[in-house]
Amino acid sequence: MRAHVELIHEDDYIFHAGELPYGEGKILERRLSTDEEDGSSSLSLHATSDWGRSAGITHADTEFYVVEGTLNYGGQELGPGGYVQVPRGTAMDWIKIREGSRILHWREYGDAGFDPATNLAEALASASSGEAATVVDANKMEWVEAPSVGPLSPLYIKLLHRDPKTNFYTRLIRAKKGWTDHRLAHHPCYEEFYTLGGKMAYNFGDIDEGTYCFRPAGVKHGHFIAETDIDWIIRSDGELINWYTTEEWVKWGGTPFNYDEHNHSHQPVISTLPVRSRSRGEWSGDGM
Ligand SMILES: [Fe+2]
Repeated sequence: MRAHVELIHEDDYIFHAGELPYGEGKILERRLSTDEEDGSSSLSLHATSDWGRSAGITHADTEFYVVEGTLNYGGQELGPGGYVQVPRGTAMDWIKIREGSRILHWREYGDAGFDPATNLAEALASASSGEAATVVDANKMEWVEAPSVGPLSPLYIKLLHRDPKTNFYTRLIRAKKGWTDHRLAHHPCYEEFYTLGGKMAYNFGDIDEGTYCFRPAGVKHGHFIAETDIDWIIRSDGELINWYTTEEWVKWGGTPFNYDEHNHSHQPVISTLPVRSRSRGEWSGDGM
């Protein structure tokens, strides 16, 4: 289970030593969202020296996206927009991340476990899955109109990876300046975003570069107004279907027994408030 995180800015978070076993070099991580039951994690990596790791087998579905700097996957040099996905149990090639790079890194359905191999051939020989890694340079892809049903005007997509068995998918999404939706949407799957650039206002606050959310299935969100073109990398653990709510209301509360319901510091809070970081300020409660 992952907590509802909405909205945080990664710069509000502390650094930990990067948990990337068998790596060589120095790399730090900011933990944007973690699942302490199965180890799934969404991390922002900052390489403070050149960092690298041999080929091997990962215990989780593993993804990397280059925000800044370079990542070399088995000899393929990737700059910003570079993306690698390796299913768990699949042979993963060696990887090198250049000092100063910022890389988004996800592990899903598993922890940081890694079985090192001396080279890709040895990793292939011990792999439990015959699936292959996906390596994509998003700069070489065209934005296309997203096929999702629901938005009042089009969003644009670059599909980076989709798991054909589960429909888990990772994509870049662009909303053009002025894109808006007055409704609240919710989905049968989780929705996670990291903002790569641009500005948008919505019910949980102001989105700008470096803002992040992990939104469990069913959480309403909306009242969007894109102030500029805005780009995200978005992940969902299933096909994202938009269900909409309008004229939303909340019935919540009770009769105070021994406190002043009009005194702000005495009031109880709703127990499902999301994780929120300091630069985003207080949530107004809009769209609850
Ligand atoms: Fe959504």
